[in-house]
Amino acid sequence: MNDKELVARHAAAMVTDGMSVGLGTGSTANCFIEELARRRAEEGLRVTAVASSTVSAIKARSLGLPLAALEHVDRLDLYVDGADEVAPDLALLKGRGYDLVREKILATAADAFIVLIDKSKLVGRIGERYPIPVEVMPFAWGLVKHHVEGLGGRGELRRNATGDGLVVTSHGSLVLDFAFDPDRTSAQSLNEALNASPGVVEHGIFLGLASVVLVAVDGVVEARRAWPASTA
Ligand code: A5P
Repeated sequence: MNDKELVARHAAAMVTDGMSVGLGTGSTANCFIEELARRRAEEGLRVTAVASSTVSAIKARSLGLPLAALEHVDRLDLYVDGADEVAPDLALLKGRGYDLVREKILATAADAFIVLIDKSKLVGRIGERYPIPVEVMPFAWGLVKHHVEGLGGRGELRRNATGDGLVVTSHGSLVLDFAFDPDRTSAQSLNEALNASPGVVEHGIFLGLASVVLVAVDGVVEARRAWPASTA
């Protein structure tokens, strides 16, 4: 069993009968979906799943998990997803897979948000390895880029894999990836500035949402609620 399967199995074991469970997006979330479906098939676990993306919905459906539409849900017991970076205060960077809008809605709607990572995702501060993804209304991208660059960022529109077009999200938005100088801008101030920027649909900074982070370290699962920055 690899590290992603290990944390996924640990999280799936925390699901109890009758729960409503949000399904994240990405390779680690896929492992969780598979394990949840296995528990349903083999143990008769009753769950209602809500997917954070079309691709996760298709996977869940193909494995027989009962799905509820996001618009028919007003809360969740649990949301389980991966992350691109996790800081010691459990600030998360998400959205490399650009499905962050529904991911943040589900993470916010859930009583508990379990984040699944291997130790390669641990960082001293978010934005350390990846730029901050910002989903923008297509007609506002230039205004948002100018505004955020005034805060000290350098932004680029995300291109598709072949580089001959732009990434368009499932909501028809464009994605601006911003690199920031941590000595000038904190995740908190950036979060507030992006939340207050007209034209920004959503962004990849997830502050104060994670309940626990399950980290696979050399084949062992560690549950972290926060840790000193020096030991990241
Ligand atoms: C999807 O938009 C992202 O937020 C993912 O949760 C993140 O990229 C983690 O993906 P992996 O589990 O594939 O690393």
